[in-house]
Amino acid sequence: MTTTVPATDRTDRWWEELPAGRGRLRGRAHLATDAPALSLDGTWDFRYGTRADGSDLGEAAPIEVPGLWQFQGYGAPQYTNVIYPIPRDVPHVPDENPTGHYSRSLTVPQDWAEELGRGGRVLLRFQGVDSAAKVWIDGEEIGVTAGSRLTQEFDVTGALAAPGEHRLDVRVVQWSVNTYVEDQDMWWASGIFRSVDLLLRPAGGIHDLVTLADFDPATGRGLLRATAVGPDGESVPATVEVPGLGLTAPADGTETVIEQVRPWSAEDPHLYAATVRTETETVSLRLGFRRVEVDGEIFRVNGERIVFRGVNRHEADPVVGRTQHLENQDLDVALMKQHNLNAVRTSHYPPHQRFLDVCDEAGLYVICEGDFETHGFHADSTWGEDATGAAEGPALDPQFEQSLVERSDRFVRRDRNHASIVMWSIGNEAASGPVTEAMVERVRATDPTRPVIYEQDYSASYVDVFSLMYSSVEESEQIGRRELSAEYQDKLTRMLRSFALDVPDGHFADPPALSKPFLWIEYAHAMGNGAGSLKEYMALTEQYPALHGGFIWEWIDHGLLTHDAEGNEIFGYGGDFGERLHDGNFVADGLVLPDRTPSPALLDAKHHYSPVGLEVSATTARLTNRYAFSDLSRLRAEVSLDQQATWQELALPALTPGQSGEVPLPTGEHAAVTVRLLTREAEGPVPAGHEVVAASHVDAQRLAAATAVPAAPALAPQQEADGAWRLGPARFDDLGRLVGLGDLGIEHAGADLYRAPVDNEGARTRNPLEARWKRIGLDVARRRLVGIEADGEELVIRTRLGLDGSALGADVVERWRGDVDGVDLELTVTPAAFWPRDLPLPRIGWTFALPAAPDQVEYDGFGPHESYPDTGGGTTFATWRSSVADLQVPYVFPQENGNRAGVVRAVLSGVGGTLELRAPEPFGLAVRPWSTAELDARAHDGALRPDGRTWVTASAALHGVGSAACGPLPLPEYVLDAHEETLRLHLASPGR
Ligand code: GAL
Repeated sequence: MTTTVPATDRTDRWWEELPAGRGRLRGRAHLATDAPALSLDGTWDFRYGTRADGSDLGEAAPIEVPGLWQFQGYGAPQYTNVIYPIPRDVPHVPDENPTGHYSRSLTVPQDWAEELGRGGRVLLRFQGVDSAAKVWIDGEEIGVTAGSRLTQEFDVTGALAAPGEHRLDVRVVQWSVNTYVEDQDMWWASGIFRSVDLLLRPAGGIHDLVTLADFDPATGRGLLRATAVGPDGESVPATVEVPGLGLTAPADGTETVIEQVRPWSAEDPHLYAATVRTETETVSLRLGFRRVEVDGEIFRVNGERIVFRGVNRHEADPVVGRTQHLENQDLDVALMKQHNLNAVRTSHYPPHQRFLDVCDEAGLYVICEGDFETHGFHADSTWGEDATGAAEGPALDPQFEQSLVERSDRFVRRDRNHASIVMWSIGNEAASGPVTEAMVERVRATDPTRPVIYEQDYSASYVDVFSLMYSSVEESEQIGRRELSAEYQDKLTRMLRSFALDVPDGHFADPPALSKPFLWIEYAHAMGNGAGSLKEYMALTEQYPALHGGFIWEWIDHGLLTHDAEGNEIFGYGGDFGERLHDGNFVADGLVLPDRTPSPALLDAKHHYSPVGLEVSATTARLTNRYAFSDLSRLRAEVSLDQQATWQELALPALTPGQSGEVPLPTGEHAAVTVRLLTREAEGPVPAGHEVVAASHVDAQRLAAATAVPAAPALAPQQEADGAWRLGPARFDDLGRLVGLGDLGIEHAGADLYRAPVDNEGARTRNPLEARWKRIGLDVARRRLVGIEADGEELVIRTRLGLDGSALGADVVERWRGDVDGVDLELTVTPAAFWPRDLPLPRIGWTFALPAAPDQVEYDGFGPHESYPDTGGGTTFATWRSSVADLQVPYVFPQENGNRAGVVRAVLSGVGGTLELRAPEPFGLAVRPWSTAELDARAHDGALRPDGRTWVTASAALHGVGSAACGPLPLPEYVLDAHEETLRLHLASPGR
C-alpha cells in the first residue's frame, strides 16, 4: 500500500458544490443477502487538519470506524439548536474547516476478482459520513458523498478489478454545503460514524427490491407484490417465497392474493419470513402485511383509527455521540414498548437501519424522516408568533432543488420495505416553498403507498397529514373541533408568512389542513422536570377523532460524559466543550437520561399512553380499551386493599376496542385501593407479568382516621430564661424557630415559598419565572419575627417573609400544640394582597434540615416516582421505602425534583434518630441530601454535593411544571396563584 495521500487539487472545491455529491449510485434497499461482503469497520489511519483541500494534514494516527472524531481526541463537539455555527454564506464554508483524512488498505479476494470477470460488481457502501467526503481508491477519485445520515454507494468495480491489496482514502470535512441543510438540533460532530462495507454484487443478483404486503381488513386477505431489479432498474428473473404462507411467486411485480393473512400492527407485529431468489443471490426479509390509509380526517392502519402515542428519537450516546451501538437500537425499542409507546418519529434523519428492523419486530409505528433541516435560515420563526425577519432558505432556492429531491428519494428507497414505517416526513423546520413541495412529490412518486407529512406546510396544502409542534391544549382543541379562532388563524398566517411566502388574508379560514388527520409532530417538551399535562393532551384524542396523538419531544438527553473544571464526572451540554456559540442544556430534553435511565417523564408517559384507560373509585375500576385491534384478553388484573402489601386477582370484562366498562371492587374498610393490569405473556421485549397500568383511589377520611395520632393530654408551652420556648418534645429558639425535637436537632426550619426553578421556567419561556422569582429574591426571602405568644395550650409564632427591594411578602402564622410524644403544627401562609396576578408562587410549604443524614425514608403516599401537579401519572398509593439518594432525580441540569405527592405519613430513620411526620391532609414530601440553594446553584448534576444534612420539605401546594421551555405554560388549574394556604403536620421523634 502506498502511504501518500492523494495529491491536493486546490481548484476542486467539492465540498461546496451544488448539486452536492458525485458518482454515487441511486438509493436502494439495505438488503440482507447471501452475497459476499467485507466489513471495513475497524481501525483506520487518520490525519487531521484544518483545510478541506488536505494541504495541512498532520501525522497519521489510528482511529476507529465507525466513530466521530470529536469523540476520539480531535476537535470538540459543539451544540447549537437553531443557529449555524459558521457564517451563513451559501454554498461556501470558512477556509478553516476541520478535516479528517481516513485511509486503510483492503484486500480483494481472488474469488471476488473471478466473480467480477463473470460480470459481477463491487460496491463501496458508506452508511453515514458527516458532513461530506471525497473517496479515492489507489489515488483515483471515486466520488463525493452528500447526506450525512444517508447511505451512499459507489460502484468501484473498475478500481478493484485486480485481486490483492488496494488503498482506500476518504477525506471528510466538517463543514460543507450539506451543513446548510443538516441544521438539526443536536451536537455538531464529524467523521465516518456508521459502518463502511464492500459488497460483492453477483451478476444476475438482486440490486434492489420493492415489496408491497397489503392487508384488506374487510376480507382478511393479503396481497403480495415483490419486484426485484438489477443495477439499471431492469427486471431480473427472481422468485419470492413465503414458507409460512406456502407461497411461491415471481418477483417481477406480479400480485398474489393470499386468502388469509395475520396482519402486522404495533399491537401484534406479526412478520412472515420471506426470501427472494435469483440463480445467483438470495435475499431474506420479513414481511408485515398491513394497510395504511388516510380516510378523510382519519388515519387508519388495517381499517382502524390509530392514535400515535409516540416520541421523537435522535441517535445519541453519552460516550460515542451519534455513533450507534447495536444494543442501543434494541434497548430503546424495548424501553419504548415497556412504557406503552406505540410510535416513534426518527427525528430528524433516517436512523441506523437496525433500528427499523427492531421496530418491525417489536411493533412501533414509525414516521421515518429525511435528513433535512435548515432552521438557521429562519431562526426567528421557531417561536411561531414571534416570527419576524423572513429569510429565503433552501425551500425557496432553486439551486438546492436537485440535491434535496435526491435526498428525499434516497432515504425512501433504503427503507420502504419496512412494515413499521407508516408515514414519510421529508424533514424538519426547513420552511416551506417550491423545493419542499417538490421533495414531498418525489417521496410520493418513489413510494405511493404511504402518506407524507411535513410540519412546516402549515396549512397542509401539499402533505397528506396536518401536523404542528407544541400546540397548546386550547389550540389543539380548536383543530379537533375544526374551527380556528381568528387569533389562531392570525398566528398560523404569521408563521407561514415568516417563510417569505405570499399568504393571503383568510388563508386559514378553511385550510385543507382541517379536512385531514392532525397530529402533534412534537409536543410535551420533556426537558428536565416535565412535561406537564400529558393527561389533557391524551384526553383530546379520545374526544376528537381528527386528533391522532403525537410525538413527545424527545426520547433521550444528548448529554455527553465528561468532567467539569473541578473534576466532577458530569453529563456535559452546550458550552461544556469550549464552544463560543451554543445553546446550553437545551440538548438535554429527553424521556430518558443520557445513560438511558428512565426519567419520571417516561413513567408519566407510560401511564397516559396506556392501551387501557384505568380510573379507580372506592367501589369500581373503570376501564377503557384504547387498543385499536385487541380485546383485553392479553392482560390480567389485580387489586390491592392493603397499600400493595398483597394482591388479589380481579376478573377483567370483555371489552372490544373503544369500549369502556366497570369492574366492581371488593368492599371493606380500606383507606386505599389500587388496581393494576399486567401482561399475561411476554410480548416481544415486554415480559410476562409486566405492569401495563396501575391506579389508586384513596378515601381521604379513612386515611385521616388511620394516620391520626391518639391524643395524649396537651402540654402548655414553657418559656425559658433565655427567651427560648419548649412545648412537649419540641424546642424553639428566641426567634421562634423550631430547633429540636426530642434528641433530634433541627435547623433552618421555616415557611418556604420557593423551589428551585425547572427548565420549563427558564429564560426562553413566555413567562420566565426563574428570572422573575430571583429578581424579587424569593429564593432568599428574609424572615422577621413579629411575635411569639402562648395562647392557652398553643404556642403561636407570627413571622413575616419579606423580599429585598419590595414591599411584597407573606404573613406566616405557626400554631403549635404538643403532648409528651410529639407536636402538631398548623402553618398558615398569607401572601400580600397585592401579589402580582401573573406571578405564581413556586410552592407553599415548610422546610427544615436534620443535621444528620437518615439513610431510609418510608412514606405512605403516591410513588414510587415523583409527582408535580401536572405530572406524576402512574404513581400509586402505598407504603414506599427508599434511600434518600434514590428519591432524587439526576436531571442533567439540577432543578426541583423528587416531590412525592399525597403523603400522609413519613418516617425518616438513620444515624441521627427517627423523625415521624403525619398529616390529616395529604402533603407533598421532598427529602434531599442538599439544600434548595445548592440545587439552584449548580450547573450539573455531577457537581451537587451533599452537605451532611437531610433537607425535608412538606408542601401544601406547588406550581405545575408545564412545558414552556418549548411549549405552553402550565394550564390554569396547575398555576399556583398567590393565596392563603394552610399546612398541618404532626411531628414526633420516637425514641431509639
Ligand atoms: C423543535 C425542533 C426540535 C427541537 C425542539 C426543541 O422546534 O423541531 O428539533 O429543537 O424544538 O427542543
